[in-house]
Amino acid sequence: MAAAPNGKAADQRSEFLRVYDRLKADLLQDPAFDFTEDSKNWVDRMLDYNVPGGKLNRGLSVIDSYQLLKGGKELTPEEYFDASVLGWCIEWLQAYFLVLDDIMDESHTRRGQPCWFRRPKVGMIAVNDGIVLRNHIPRMLNKQFKGRPYYADLLDLFNEVEFQTTQGQMLDLITTLDKENNLNKYSLPVYRRIVTYKTAFYSFYLPVACALLLMGESLDKHLDVKNILIEMGVYFQVQDDYLDCYGDPKVIGKIGTDIEDYKCSWLVVKALERANEHQKKILYENYGNTDSEKVAKVKALYNELGLQNVFLEYERESYAKLILSIEAQPSKAMQEVLKSFLGKIYKRQK
Ligand code: IPE
Ligand code: MN
Ligand code: MN
Repeated sequence: MAAAPNGKAADQRSEFLRVYDRLKADLLQDPAFDFTEDSKNWVDRMLDYNVPGGKLNRGLSVIDSYQLLKGGKELTPEEYFDASVLGWCIEWLQAYFLVLDDIMDESHTRRGQPCWFRRPKVGMIAVNDGIVLRNHIPRMLNKQFKGRPYYADLLDLFNEVEFQTTQGQMLDLITTLDKENNLNKYSLPVYRRIVTYKTAFYSFYLPVACALLLMGESLDKHLDVKNILIEMGVYFQVQDDYLDCYGDPKVIGKIGTDIEDYKCSWLVVKALERANEHQKKILYENYGNTDSEKVAKVKALYNELGLQNVFLEYERESYAKLILSIEAQPSKAMQEVLKSFLGKIYKRQK
């Protein structure tokens, strides 16, 4: 959302970033490892490069949601810190997935800078860095929450959502394997399955589930909320796929690779639904190739099929549906949580 540089959003961001510094300092003094000067510097740089540079939507949503669930009252410093640690755990999880995702997708840039594995002297050390990022999460959870009544639930939640995300990434990747099938398997149900697992659980369900656990709630009482968040996550990934082709790299901070990577993207699924035999042939012959002329032909076909308008219509429709299901929620506070989350992503350009 647009915010004045010194507005409320910027304040929230800088307060949240102060917690990042504290968590990083703790991790760099972890008694389970005797850091050398070099290893400390490596992790320090690796964290700064990969963890705090994004929109921080997921992390900030834990704080937001917790506050709304508490009836909108200002959080105490202790409550604020708890929510921030969980918010950062999600940002760490995201950093871990993205470092590895960029290797697998052969991406070039992320958050307006070269992907971590493209940095001189990093290369495939990035694989272990991804694993290091992942391992920081239970260390932070242990330090902050061990002994709390919901500690085991938190660990289970992070483990389950991580598992789901890896399964989604697997589907995303293995779906691109049978090129000889000429995009025959690419359909909306296949698409929904991939993005529900790879994106929706960790990006939308996890932040709200963290806030619910802080409230002392049991997660199985909130399955309808979970379903709404999953729908929001699907909508978010449709936006991501749209922006991969139509977004401004200077704004989204990354250069799209979905066409080159033969991804089961929302755009190619919609193109296949609309294409005649001749247009399908253009897709078969050009989709999934790094040759820039072939990529341009795919993009020209997307334009010919009017996919930008198809997307605008989809966006309008899913927003309306989401609002309807949110307003059917019995709890006003939960309605606020869901609306606040939706407001952060509706018509996003990045
Ligand atoms: C990856 O989806 C989702 C996860 C990192 C789990 P994408 O492959 O579409 O992500 P971007 O577009 O590179 O950010
Ligand atoms: Mn990917
Ligand atoms: Mn993408």
